[in-house]
Amino acid sequence: MISRTNQTEVSFTVNGELIAESAPVRMHAADFLRQKLGLTGTHIGCEQGVCGMCTITVDGQVVKSCLMLAVQLDGRNVCTVEALSEGNRLSLLQESFKRHHALQCGFCTPAFLCVAKSLESHGRVLSKEEIREEIAGVLCRCTGYEGIVNAIEEYLTAALDAGANQKEAEA
Ligand code: FES
Ligand code: FES
Repeated sequence: MISRTNQTEVSFTVNGELIAESAPVRMHAADFLRQKLGLTGTHIGCEQGVCGMCTITVDGQVVKSCLMLAVQLDGRNVCTVEALSEGNRLSLLQESFKRHHALQCGFCTPAFLCVAKSLESHGRVLSKEEIREEIAGVLCRCTGYEGIVNAIEEYLTAALDAGANQKEAEA
């Protein structure tokens, strides 16, 4: 049936919370997250899939949210940078970025944090070369990447160790 309005209903889980909202049919996902849901940690740079500033995860996959329409989020499980802190405390990953001076202006940081978090799914610590390959879709104008790569490497080591210790304790 042809819709007589340019609005549509969208319902999905974002950072563990189920939301239902109306969205203009042509609004891209990054604008929807920022403007409709107030999740402004997802930044927008180029709006054409080049800079990676808008990176989030959808059903565990890293995506550039300026290349998706809001309606495509319907029924999915979305994670943005806002999910990464632990209440008022920085997470292990954020602490690692801070310790390694992995940010200057910070505009790219939410995207790198989302990519870094997703790398845990490999179940092992990636080499520096592999980390560089994984983060290649996000551009940083300030840092020279060294601190970002070191922070991610340290985080993966700590997170995987913590997971292994927990499994041992449960056995
Ligand atoms: S804003 Fe999405 S890739 Fe640049
Ligand atoms: S810290 Fe400024 S763009 Fe990356």
